[in-house]
This record gives sequence, C-alpha cells and structure tokens, in this order.
Amino acid sequence: METAIITTGAKGGDANIRLARETADRLGFPYVPRGRVSLSLLCQQHGAGAALVAKNSELVLGTPAGELFFHPSMAHLRLKNLRQGKPDHLVEALDLAPGMSVLDCTLGLGSDAIVAAAVAGETGRVTGLEASPLIFAVVRHGLAHFSGDNPAICQAMRRVRALWADYHEYLAAQPDKSVDAVYFDPMFRHPFLESASMNPLRFAADSRPVSEAAIAGACRVARRRVVLKESSHSTEFSRLGFSSFVGGRYSKLRYGVISL
Ligand SMILES: C[S@@+](CC[C@H](N)C(=O)[O-])C[C@H]1O[C@@H](n2cnc3c(N)ncnc32)[C@H](O)[C@@H]1O
Repeated sequence: METAIITTGAKGGDANIRLARETADRLGFPYVPRGRVSLSLLCQQHGAGAALVAKNSELVLGTPAGELFFHPSMAHLRLKNLRQGKPDHLVEALDLAPGMSVLDCTLGLGSDAIVAAAVAGETGRVTGLEASPLIFAVVRHGLAHFSGDNPAICQAMRRVRALWADYHEYLAAQPDKSVDAVYFDPMFRHPFLESASMNPLRFAADSRPVSEAAIAGACRVARRRVVLKESSHSTEFSRLGFSSFVGGRYSKLRYGVISL
C-alpha cells in the first residue's frame, strides 16, 4: 500500500482541517498540518508517496501521476443515454431492474455503482467495495457530498453504500445467495486501453488480478448473475470461467456474464 499523508490545501480553513483530521483517524494515515510548503516538499519531508488533501470541503488525492478527484460526469452521461432509451452494457450484463441488489466489488471512482444505484432505484441496494484506502476516502466523501444540478444523480450517489474492504474478505463473510448480482471491474491486465486520466487511479489502486476463489465466492453470494468487465480479447474471461458476453462486437470492452 502507498504511504500517504493527509493535509489541507494551502488556504487551510477550519472545515478542511476537521475533514483532514477525521479522514486521517479513519484511515490510520498521519495528519500533517500544511504550513507554507508545497505538497511535494511536504511528502518528501514525511517520506510519503502521495498526499490526500482536504480543500474546498472536498478530498483530492495528489499523486506523482496527477490528481485524483471525485466527479460523476461519466455516470451522468450514461444515465442521460439510458433516459433516451439507449442501452448500457453494464445494465444489460447485470440484467439490472428496479429493486435489485448489487455488490460492486471494485468501486473505483464509483461511476458504475452510481449507474447501478440509479437503475436499481430507491427500493434497490448497491454496495461498493474499495480496497485502496486513499481511493475509498476520495470516493466515499464525493458520493456523500457532491452536489450538482441533477437531483436524481445526487440521490443515486447517496444510495451507494461505500465500504473500505477487500472483496475476498467481504465475500467470504456474506451468506449464500444474499444479493442479486456481483460485479467486478478490476484494473485491466493490459492497461494500454486506459486513458492517461486513469494514471492517478492506477497509482493508488489495488492491481491484483481477480482470483478464481473470488469468482467462486461471488457465485455463492449472488442469486442471479456474476459479471466481469475486461478488455474484449482478455484471456481473463476464459481463466475465470466466463463464456457468455455482453458488449458491442467492435467495442474494446466486454462484460463476461455467469448466469446462476
Ligand atoms: C477499474 S477500477 C473500477 C472502476 C469503477 N468500476 C468505476 O466505475 O469507476 C478498479 C478498482 O477496484 C479496486 N480493487 C481492486 N482489487 C480490489 C479488491 N480485492 N477489493 C476491493 N477493491 C479492489 C481498485 O483499487 C480500483 O479502485
């Protein structure tokens, strides 16, 4: 795991200091008062690879690969397309409908979880697991506090239950057939498909491959479907037992589906 410090932006401010301190307590990283030095010098002084920064009442992760911050723009676009009657491959792969429960084992920046929460609606339930404490902190805070001009998206964000957890341990503790669908969107084995904007995420993310044991655990915990997203020609699908797919024929991405 990356070493990190938690601090505020240069302007400080009581609310940001409080947010930085609370986050440091929750995650077990040191809180370091910002003072008048640059973030890179502060990291250097404390032997840290990254800094989680509370500024403008948001949490932003500063990494050598750039800043990681929460923004639901992708979910926004996908939900707009859904409203216009266009298909969404994840919704199709999960066979998602109002009232369903989904366990998103790889929360990341939360776009898929927000789309799932919007479609599952108020009677549905979406839980998102994130193993990286730094990504978890940014996204949990964003899901809870981001406000925009689209109330439906904000409500969907608030309904995502974000947990700092490793999916292996979480799955092992769940009863059989306790959610409708379990979803994995791991860091790609071959990251050439990912854009440069993914670099800060890649810096902090847990990049281990999905294990066969995790898929077996997901098949035990899910009632209806287990879904894996990967690049279209990935050998991960066959390694992990996925032989049925959703995804455009010419798309770079595919969703492997196990129907239970
Ligand atoms: C490609 S991102 C997911 C993106 C996400 N679907 C979205 O819409 O933003 C993969 C995420 O899964 C997390 N992850 C990887 N292994 C994990 C594990 N064993 N338990 C929980 N999270 C994990 C990584 O840290 C990373 O944040």
